[in-house]
Parts: sequence; C-alpha cells; structure tokens
Amino acid sequence: MSRPAWAEIDLAALRHNLNIVRRAAPSSHIVAVIKANAYGHGIVRAAKALSDTDAFGVASIDEAVQLREAGISQRIVLLEGVFGPDELELVAKYNLDLVVHNLAQVEMLEQGLASNNTMSIWLKLDTCMHRLGFSVDMLPGIVERLQKISNTTTPAILMTHLANADDLQDKLTAIQLECFNATVKKLGQQQKLETSIANSAGILGWPASHTDWVRPGIMLYGISPISGKTAKDFDLQAVMSVKSKLIDIQTLKKGDAIGYGGTWVCPEDMRVGVVAFGYGDGYPRHAKNGTPLLINNKRASLIGRVSMDMITVDLRDHPDAKAGDEVELWGKSLAVEDVARSADTIAYELVCGITQRVKYIEI
Ligand SMILES: Cc1ncc(COP(=O)(O)O)c(C=O)c1O
Repeated sequence: MSRPAWAEIDLAALRHNLNIVRRAAPSSHIVAVIKANAYGHGIVRAAKALSDTDAFGVASIDEAVQLREAGISQRIVLLEGVFGPDELELVAKYNLDLVVHNLAQVEMLEQGLASNNTMSIWLKLDTCMHRLGFSVDMLPGIVERLQKISNTTTPAILMTHLANADDLQDKLTAIQLECFNATVKKLGQQQKLETSIANSAGILGWPASHTDWVRPGIMLYGISPISGKTAKDFDLQAVMSVKSKLIDIQTLKKGDAIGYGGTWVCPEDMRVGVVAFGYGDGYPRHAKNGTPLLINNKRASLIGRVSMDMITVDLRDHPDAKAGDEVELWGKSLAVEDVARSADTIAYELVCGITQRVKYIEI
C-alpha cells in the first residue's frame, strides 16, 4: 500500500452544481471558470465533466492549450488576456477568446494582429475594484482603437468583476452595477455589446448582475461564495473530498508536548493520532488547534503544529480509533469552509493548494 493521501473528485456533483448555476441564472450563458487546474480539481477532467457549459475561463495560455489538446471545443476565455505579443499567434491558432484589460494589450493587438485574424474580445471595465480594467473615461477611445484594428476584432463582450459580492450588505456591488450599466448605455450608441458581470457570488446573491454571460468559479466546486451561508443553503454539493488515514497512535502522559515546537501539551494522559497529510500535501500550515477533521466520519480536532507530511489529532473522544482508520480532512462530510476558517484563510486557497503527490480518484 502506498502513502494514503488522496482527493476524491465527484464529477456528478460538479455537473449538479453547474445545474444550480443554470437554475439561478436561466437566461445567461455560462463561462465555467476552471483556471488554476479547476481550483485544484483537475482542469481536463473538470472540462470534460462540464461539457454542458457554453465556455470555459482560464488564466493562462498553457491552460487553454491543454484544454484544446484534450479535445475541448467550447469557447475558452483567457481571463487575463495575453502577457506578451508572442501569445497572439497561439490565441489565433487555438481559437481563444481574449480579455483585454490594459493599454499594453491594445498595443500588442495593434502591432501584432494580421488583418485576417478573427478574435472575440472581452473588454474589461474597472468599476471600482481597482485591480484590472479600463476606466469609464478611457473606454470609448479603446473601443474605437479596437474597431480600427480589424472589422472582426471588435469587442463583442463588455465585462467587469465584482469585488465584494460575497457580502450581501456591502454597498460597493450596487455602485459597481450602476457604473457598469451606465457605461453600457453610453457605449450602446457606439455599438451593440453583450455583457458579463457575475462571478459565483453575483449569481447566487445579486440577480441584477445576471447579464448575457455569468462566470461561476467556486460554486461549481460545491463551495459557498456568500459569507455566512453554507453550500447546503444553495443546494451545492462538495466536489473534492480530501482523505488520508491514521498511520500511528501515540499513548502520551499529561505534560507531554507534541510535534515541532511542542506547541500543544497534553492536559492529561491521552492518545494522539498521527495522520499522513501535511502542508506538503496542501493542508494549511496555519491551521489552529481545534481545526476539525473526521475520523471514521466522526468529528475530531487537530492538535499541535502541522508538519510537511503529518498532522496530529486529539483521540480522547475516539477510544476505538486505530491505525488504518480513514480520515477526511475536508469534503462531503466536512465543509472545506470550516477548515479554512480555522486556518484564517478561504476555501479557494485550500482546494487550489492540493499538491501533486496527492492521488486523485474520480468518483
Ligand atoms: C474574471 C473572473 N471571473 C470569474 C471568476 C470566478 O469567481 P468565483 O470563483 O468567485 O466564482 C474569477 C475568479 O477569480 C475571475 O477572475
């Protein structure tokens, strides 16, 4: 038997979650966001399972090429556009959609694009997230410049990204929507544009953001995008279950300190379990004492520092636990959001962070 550290990927749950997107935004086309190796779930397997989507969203040309070479035929949107002029050739060769979010990218298109190339451009507007995109004032000039490059390289879709949509009380989302809608109205006189605003939080929390295209990421993987709400609240199903086994049990005395730094000292004589999963597998190094996990489906608590290959667990409430018993670090029976909260991070980081040595099993 090899080292027991594996991630089960439930492809039926992935498809179920795509249906939740369709139900929530029935009039919109869907860009399924599968960048970062499908948030750690495996980009090609996710794309194949999500064959009902209208398009895929990725962050790099490498991800896009990987998808095309695996036979994926839907539209693929490069969400950060190209990083250098050399990538334009690949964009054309692999028939990719391109986000254009800054002047350097416009110049690359002006200088590098053969007039017979056709490209679908997603023009990004900054509506106060202040990360990527053109300002409202710059936009009409950019549209004109793109129109001059080639008749077929006109921006077809105007997009923006929501900064705080996970917080239903936050006022910024309404401001962003108002700014976006006003810009669309103004540009509408220049040309007809499709639009795209909503990420997962927009899809589930802000119906006014459901326009021609929605761009779900985290909700596809069965994780709630809205703070204070759980996946169950939206009928989302966890796709990734990360598992290992107890590989040893220590019987310790009151006062014994555990692991690196001896940060956890046994308050009484007790048993401590050792699980073969650590930060080298993607478990969060800063998970605190008390971070939940499941042993044989029953809740237990992390104690002591997370090591590269192992974590240690309080077995006082698990008198029958023994080496070889199954451990769930997060997944179907333990929300990854709960683990993330205990490690002062977000579920996105945990699922994206599963490392290569963890075996993937499709179920
Ligand atoms: C441009 C863009 N759209 C959509 C998404 C999907 O966001 P989420 O995973 O929150 O649904 C992302 C992810 O960061 C993104 O960068």
